[in-house]
Amino acid sequence: MGRVTGKIAVVTGGSSGLGRGCSLRLAQEGAKVIVADIQDDLGGEVVQEIKDAGGQARYVRLDVTDELAWQSLMDIVKEEFGALHILVNNAGIAIAGSIVDMTLEDWQQQQAINLDGVFLGIKYSIPLMRESGAASIINMSSVAGLKGAANLAAYNATKGGVRLFTKGVALECANNRWPIRVNSVHPGIIETPIWTKINPDAFEAGENAIDPQVLAQVAVPTGEVGFPADIANGVLFLASDEARYITGTELVIDGGISA
Ligand SMILES: NC(=O)c1ccc[n+]([C@@H]2O[C@H](COP(=O)([O-])OP(=O)(O)OC[C@H]3O[C@@H](n4cnc5c(N)ncnc54)[C@H](O)[C@@H]3O)[C@@H](O)[C@H]2O)c1
Repeated sequence: MGRVTGKIAVVTGGSSGLGRGCSLRLAQEGAKVIVADIQDDLGGEVVQEIKDAGGQARYVRLDVTDELAWQSLMDIVKEEFGALHILVNNAGIAIAGSIVDMTLEDWQQQQAINLDGVFLGIKYSIPLMRESGAASIINMSSVAGLKGAANLAAYNATKGGVRLFTKGVALECANNRWPIRVNSVHPGIIETPIWTKINPDAFEAGENAIDPQVLAQVAVPTGEVGFPADIANGVLFLASDEARYITGTELVIDGGISA
C-alpha cells in the first residue's frame, strides 16, 4: 500500500480496459487520479469505484487529439490539484485490415489518437511536471510496437512511433536535467474491449471480431491471456519512486510473445 501516495496522476483512456485498470491500481496505492476519456459514463463509473474503495479521483472529458482540450485539462489539474507527477498516455485504438484496403481517413484517425495524442499529452504535461518535482510519463505502446503483424501494419506504425518517441523525450528530459522519467509499456494479448472494435465491420455487426482467450492459446508462449491488472502493476512500478533510475526503456508484459 502507498507506493504512489500523494502523487497526482492523469490516465488517458481511463474509462475502459487497461486505462481503467491503471486508474484503479494507482488509486489503490494512494495516487489522486484524473480519469480522462471520451466515454463519460464509463469514466464516471471508474471514479465512483475508486471513491467507494476510499480513493480519490475525478473524471475529465478529454479527446486526446484535441489540443485545446489538453490545455484545459492541464489548467484543471493545476488549479484543482496543484501538481502533476504521473501521466499514463494510454488512450488508443486498433484498426485492423489490409493496408491496400485501408482508407487514408482510417490511417489518419489511428495516427491521431495513438501518436498525436501521446505527443500532445507530453507537450502539455512537461511544463507542469517540471514544477511538480519527480515525475513519470508512461506511454502505452504494444508488442506491435516491437514487431510487425500482418493486417496491423498501420497500428504497428503508431506503436513503433510511440516506442521511439518515448526514448527521444526521455533523453531530452535527462539532458535538460528535468526530473521526468519517460518509459513505454508493451502489452501482449490482454483481455479488454479493444478486441471487439479491432475490425470495424465486425464491430458494426455487433460481433466480437477476435476472442483474445482463443488467440492467446495459439499466440502466447504461456498459453494465457493477460488481464488489465497485469499491465497496471507494471505501470504502477514505473510510476513509483522504485523506478527512479529507469528512463527511456521499455517494459514488455506479454507472456513471452516477444521472446
Ligand atoms: N488490449 C490489448 O491486448 C492491448 C495490447 C497492446 C496494447 N494495447 C494498447 O493499450 C491501450 C488501451 O487499450 P485497451 O485494450 O484498454 O482498449 P479499450 O478500447 O478498452 O480502451 C481504450 C480507451 O481509450 C479511449 N479512447 C479512444 N479514443 C480516444 C480519444 N480520442 N480520446 C480519449 N480517449 C480515447 C476509449 O474511449 C477507451 O476508453 C491502447 O493504446 C492499446 O493500443 C492494448
